[in-house]
Amino acid sequence: MRTRMVAGNWKMNKNLQEGVALATELKEAVKDPKCAVVIGTPFIHLATIAELLKNSPIKVAAENCADHEKGAYTGEVSAEMVKSTGAEYVILGHSERRQYYAESYDMLAEKVRLALANGLKIIFCIGEVKEEREAGKQNEVVKAQLEGSVFGLTAEEWKNITLAYEPVWAIGTGLTATPAQAEEIHAYIRSLVAEKYGKEAAEDTTILYGGSCNEKNAAELFACPDIDGGLIGGAALVAEKFLAIIAAR
Ligand code: 13P
Repeated sequence: MRTRMVAGNWKMNKNLQEGVALATELKEAVKDPKCAVVIGTPFIHLATIAELLKNSPIKVAAENCADHEKGAYTGEVSAEMVKSTGAEYVILGHSERRQYYAESYDMLAEKVRLALANGLKIIFCIGEVKEEREAGKQNEVVKAQLEGSVFGLTAEEWKNITLAYEPVWAIGTGLTATPAQAEEIHAYIRSLVAEKYGKEAAEDTTILYGGSCNEKNAAELFACPDIDGGLIGGAALVAEKFLAIIAAR
């Protein structure tokens, strides 16, 4: 049985005090969730929130890590540093990192390698932009993203990968993929995993949907057989909304 999951991605929101307040609210409300719950926070929150959530079922994720092990990379945070905070996950390959920080397939493959070498689990994001969807190229795009950065992993390493399909045109736009659109590409992604790692591994792979997923549309999306949960941006910043999405899973 694969893990169902609701993960939040705070992006560059919440100062330390606001982040601690939100995590505290979530901790008090999430005692025995029916699915895995992860919150992805800016680096500055990780140590404090990981400590705060130590005895909670909620796990903590970084939103990025460096593509180098250590050394003279001013301003960067390594996978080892992330791990040392108590965070268990890292989100990699988010479209905002690919788009605004020019993260390439090779750079992401290196980040994946370092994250795994340091014992982190990975939420790996893939998804097409609007023009690619309009040209009917979404399958091609997600296939290239997987082949470019994660399909080099061994079957054993693959067990630490959660995928998140996030169509870029749906992120922060209020435009959600319809459940049928999302299910179609999730099933395709699962078929690619089956080709690469076998049917059983594909059945065990958690594939999240992200892109304007909220407390209103989550249940309908999560009812699709290949949608195992969500990676939530805006709605993860408000406890009540995030909790409603967890309850929908
Ligand atoms: P929104 O839920 O704000 O569209 O963001 C989705 C996302 O990018 C999560 O990683």
